[in-house]
Amino acid sequence: MNFKLEIWRQFESGEDGAFETFEVTGIDPEASFLEMLDQLNERLGQEKKRSIAFDSDCREGICGSCSLVIDGHPHGPRQVTSCQTYMRDFIDGATIKVEPFRANTMPVIRDLVTDRSALDRVIQAGGYISTTTGPQPEPNSQPVAPAVQEEAMDAAICIGCGACVAACPNGAAMLFTGAKVTHLNLLPQGQPERESRALNMVLQMDEEGFGGCTNYGECSRVCPQEISIDVIGMLNREYRKATLKKTPKHPKKMVAQ
Ligand code: SF4
Ligand code: FES
Repeated sequence: MNFKLEIWRQFESGEDGAFETFEVTGIDPEASFLEMLDQLNERLGQEKKRSIAFDSDCREGICGSCSLVIDGHPHGPRQVTSCQTYMRDFIDGATIKVEPFRANTMPVIRDLVTDRSALDRVIQAGGYISTTTGPQPEPNSQPVAPAVQEEAMDAAICIGCGACVAACPNGAAMLFTGAKVTHLNLLPQGQPERESRALNMVLQMDEEGFGGCTNYGECSRVCPQEISIDVIGMLNREYRKATLKKTPKHPKKMVAQ
């Protein structure tokens, strides 16, 4: 397959960037989008030109580090991660536009690489769970109803990629934070820090400059893990309940060192 690629090039954070056009030919339809970029980079290396910077790690849809906007869609047209997007998903001869995630809270570091550490700081603000370590507890000592388990695990599969932020017209991180809060606040292990978790994560979201949710729903539509927008309702409920309690158990939030 042959493609024309319009790729965002930006040497450094804060500098102006622009699209640069590349032609790629003889691409295997079974190649992933990142493998196609690898081939292009190999060629650029041979031509002694600067390669295209992009993030990846697992290349299996697990780590959330591949953060490309492909033809205007965070992660691409199929609601899977960029690394799980294949060239057979595109029409032969197509022109494909590739950009980094765009949000004030996730500045471009170089080309297609963005700094998504604001999401890490929101997780850190949620703090720890104060379960004891040691021998495994008897599995039936803390029964969790299957429906609750399912809801918690459906939220736990968030991979922290940030596509929800990139898709949101407000740059909100409510789907991400809602997934993290829903996961732990539904389970017995998450109960001791339930209120402080919701309060501190929302506070950190605001400090980082993420926008507020106005129910566009774009976040859930692009999420490669299909996290339901219901987690935002859960986050709002947890936050409201927590603010009604005067003294959260762990009022001090953990901050990045
Ligand atoms: S909620 Fe979905 S889109 Fe947002 S960070 Fe988690 S996995 Fe990515
Ligand atoms: S590289 Fe890990 S999810 Fe894409």
